[in-house]
Amino acid sequence: MKNNINIGLGFKKEIYQEFFHNKNIKPDFVEIAPENWINLGGKWKQVLNKIRDKYDIVAHGLSLSIGSIDDLDVGFVKKIKDFITEFDIKIYSEHLSFAKTQNAHLYDLLPIPFNKESIKHVSQRILKVQDILKQELVIENISYYTSFEPEISEIEFINEIIKQSQCKLLLDVNNVYVNSFNHNYDPYNFINNMPLDKVKYIHMAGHKKISNDLIIDTHGEAIINDVYKLFDFTTSKIKNIPILLERDFNFDDIPGLQLEINSLRKICLNNWN
Ligand SMILES: [Fe+2]
Repeated sequence: MKNNINIGLGFKKEIYQEFFHNKNIKPDFVEIAPENWINLGGKWKQVLNKIRDKYDIVAHGLSLSIGSIDDLDVGFVKKIKDFITEFDIKIYSEHLSFAKTQNAHLYDLLPIPFNKESIKHVSQRILKVQDILKQELVIENISYYTSFEPEISEIEFINEIIKQSQCKLLLDVNNVYVNSFNHNYDPYNFINNMPLDKVKYIHMAGHKKISNDLIIDTHGEAIINDVYKLFDFTTSKIKNIPILLERDFNFDDIPGLQLEINSLRKICLNNWN
């Protein structure tokens, strides 16, 4: 990352050529899910090599399952370590969730129960991961639609884990918005109470309104105005960190993605210069 303002975009195979010819999009860096690339050879390995030559890459994992009660998959973490070393990836982030239990992969990322026992369990697992990686893990606040018997608030939960494990936070501003809407709390107060000095980078994305009391974090729509406003507030408090636009499907309007990147850059310019 060369400048103080870096706006990245998730790198997807569906639109990979866009990242090379740059007619429609010009991200400053890219984010990949290592699980989607780790075992690939041939054409896709060459593509990834070319991406590494052109962009800084950050990795955003899907299946570490840091909250799982199963044993940590040490072999998997070692594979991640080799991968991030090979592709010179300085940031490896994961969801503060569990994605599998008893080796059955679940389709959704599930929230970890907000209680003291989970804090201890998750923090110890993060410490083990960091020990293997020899670098800090960056954990993301997830969007969730139920929470299991919360004993403490999500704010306390996240703060304590970061304190006990010395990891960093990937602050997903859209997830904060989605949760605040679905669970009826103030997103500004939530951001204010995050450990802002530990935020390594920010996610922004679109979501879909399903009904008057439910929105779903889809990564398939444009960012809405209220989430831009929350981003403006957030970047007035945290400066000079990378911003990543997530888009997982719905690639009909590629120039529209660049407009979103431009909007994010404009807000950062305003807050950081
Ligand atoms: Fe995210």
